[in-house]
Amino acid sequence: VDGLAAAQARVLARPSVLQYGLPHAALKRQIVELMAMRGVDCDPEQVLLTTGAQQGMDLVARLFADASGAVLLEQTVYEGIHLALRGPAPRLLTVPARPDSGLDVEAVAAWLASGVQPRFLYAIPTGHNPLGVTLADERRRRLVELAREGGLPVLEDDAYGFLSYEGTPPPALRALDERWVLYLGSFSKILAPALRGGWLVVPPELVGPLATLKHGADIDTPSLSHHVISAYLETGDLPGHLAMVRAEYRRRRDLMLECLADELPPGACWSRPEAGMFVWVELPGGLDTAELLESAIERHGVAWCPGQAFAVGGGQHAAHCMRLCFTAAPPAQIAEGIKRLGRALAAALERPRPAAAARERNLDLP
Ligand SMILES: Cc1ncc(COP(=O)(O)O)c(C=O)c1O
Repeated sequence: VDGLAAAQARVLARPSVLQYGLPHAALKRQIVELMAMRGVDCDPEQVLLTTGAQQGMDLVARLFADASGAVLLEQTVYEGIHLALRGPAPRLLTVPARPDSGLDVEAVAAWLASGVQPRFLYAIPTGHNPLGVTLADERRRRLVELAREGGLPVLEDDAYGFLSYEGTPPPALRALDERWVLYLGSFSKILAPALRGGWLVVPPELVGPLATLKHGADIDTPSLSHHVISAYLETGDLPGHLAMVRAEYRRRRDLMLECLADELPPGACWSRPEAGMFVWVELPGGLDTAELLESAIERHGVAWCPGQAFAVGGGQHAAHCMRLCFTAAPPAQIAEGIKRLGRALAAALERPRPAAAARERNLDLP
């Protein structure tokens, strides 16, 4: 807060920042430097500043997709991309993604071999939302190879790429290919979401068409925020801030994992995220996390994101799953929250569940 307040005061000393403005050139140069931390070599001409990563995703969806084409997604993935694709309404093709290994790259190969030519693949290779998984190096290489061979643009959402907890994370996909990988970055997870600072790194010939779409959406990025971000970056304080944030988030992750081991019922399993903000939990016994939510809030004072919210096309495959966030709550609340979660699940497992019993007997349910 202090760093941003000081940056804002410096910025507002120049009243011209309150006018409509061109995209902030200094911020683009600073983003080029940040990208080097993700192993990416790029130029300011390849950077498009956006109103958060969400807008970058929306612009790419609108430029690439329409109702006559298809887009490839992991079957369980950040719900913001579902929303961004609603307008263009392409056919949604999915590939499996597991909380321990991530996107199934060979399933991408199978789609390409089947002759479909998706307009793009959306992927979150580092600190996946909601699965918490980070794609291993060899899978990244194979994915980029497939993209190149199959002429498949990949929109790499790296919103969590700077939040890694186990040494150096694998480089961004964009570090492996600058033609087929479109990179999406965000200041939301490393500074503050309210700043609405996001960016795309794309081949220069896409910058114009994307900028035109952006102009139609909001004329100007929140340029005052972008000036504030730039003034903050100028101080050189970001690396220290990042180190502090990573250390604190790692502590909270470790605590949540410990609490889950103590409190969750036998048969539950969960991911061990190396990056990002989320743990993905899979529950036993046919529990449906969306159905349980209301009573968990009312009787036990605990809430979660039901897995269903991330299932492309509303599929049932994630109905027994939930996403937990380990970064937002302070440690004491994490410990208490997971205790309550344990109680809520124990109570649910004790109740008779006709739907689950029927499912286990393979009966057809309405
Ligand atoms: C994977 C992913 N991409 C993009 C976003 C949106 O980021 P922004 O706040 O920069 O729009 C989020 C926000 O939660 C996210 O989880």
